[in-house]
Amino acid sequence: MSNDSLQLKDKNIIVGITGSIAAYKAATLTRLLIKQGAKVKVVMTPLAKEFITPVTMATLSQNTVLSDFFNYDDGAWNSHVDLGLWADLFLLAPASANTMAKMAHGICDNLLLTTYLSVRCPAMIAPAMDMDMFQHPATQANIEILKQRGNSFVEPETGELASGLIGKGRMEEPEKITEEVIRFFQSKKKLQGKQYLVTAGPTNEKIDPVRFIGNHSSGKMGYALAEELANQGAEVELVSGSVTMEPKHPNIHLHNVTTAAEMFELSKKLFPTCNGAIMAAAVADYTIENTANEKIKRQKGQPITLTLTPTKDIAEHLGKIKKDSQVLVGFALETTNEEENALKKLRNKNLDFIVLNSLRDSGAGFNTDTNKISILDANGEKTTFPLKSKYEVAKDIVLYMTEK
Ligand code: PMT
Repeated sequence: MSNDSLQLKDKNIIVGITGSIAAYKAATLTRLLIKQGAKVKVVMTPLAKEFITPVTMATLSQNTVLSDFFNYDDGAWNSHVDLGLWADLFLLAPASANTMAKMAHGICDNLLLTTYLSVRCPAMIAPAMDMDMFQHPATQANIEILKQRGNSFVEPETGELASGLIGKGRMEEPEKITEEVIRFFQSKKKLQGKQYLVTAGPTNEKIDPVRFIGNHSSGKMGYALAEELANQGAEVELVSGSVTMEPKHPNIHLHNVTTAAEMFELSKKLFPTCNGAIMAAAVADYTIENTANEKIKRQKGQPITLTLTPTKDIAEHLGKIKKDSQVLVGFALETTNEEENALKKLRNKNLDFIVLNSLRDSGAGFNTDTNKISILDANGEKTTFPLKSKYEVAKDIVLYMTEK
């Protein structure tokens, strides 16, 4: 293999190893990464050394293995900060339930954990554990926290486990993890230097100082899209309605709005310099014509009438000012005649493609951690995806957008 064809040439990768029977696979993984031109430094938890020796990992990585905060022979400090600055990727394989729990909650009682908190590069995590430990709500909650912070995961396989049980928990094979690492660096480059607008969350239309008309959008879908675009190197302008989430990635620039009118003005202002926009927000179609300045008092037994007027359609406006070089992606949230309605929206708003999610699919739509989507393009061609976490769905949408 010539040097130029090495897929990980000049990439600095920290391989983190935790106490798991799958630690032996870290040896092959390290060899494969180095074969592809990567420079590897290994950090092990104290327990990991019971499963594979530092001598093996030092030989294979061609570097000293780090495990303690300082060298016991001469007192030299092992700087997790320098290590953090050096790395292009922090690859944790295998990742035990214990270490992931500590990572999710900021505990750093060993060098591997202080390194994780210090790195400025993305982290990729390959869990390995028994199936019951993997499925436990505590582990799943920790994985969710780590995903929300932009860490990517190499899902464990289903198969025979060290315990003899059969289930999901086996660390993915080193060859597959190496492919993921290569894909990560390739896709990261793909959106470097690009800028995207993402709308997310609900809009709230004020009735009076204490009440509003809103909807059930949590922002999860839009924030996952923003994280995915940022993970791939893009700068993201995230125009968000009121949600309880916060973006984690430094490339995401958050613009908070409340009403559909505010979302319209900001999106209109930000879109012209962007390479594209993904409209995941649940925007109110109607707003209150005359907002009351004082709290509307209850009149016993008397109905009240609110007059609603249509809001401006943000996606439709962006569709009108869109240049050929820009991509515009809409969402369609439907309950009936899903495809027909989605295609109408795609055409009326001049979208390049539309992501259809239906409230008839369980686990899809508002406020869930998962979504089930189909993508329809301007030719009416349809690509369907199974139910997945919103982070995985975001990956599918961004991949579709960048490969079109
Ligand atoms: O936030 P979550 O809880 O994770 O839920 C995700 C979601 C269900 C909100 C998301 O997946 C989704 O479907 N977003 C679009 C919801 C919606 O308003 O759909 P729609 O079919 O009414 O609108 C069609 C498209 O036009 C959407 O891209 C919408 O953002 C856009 N629109 C609508 C009205 C308007 N005034 N301006 C717009 O830009």
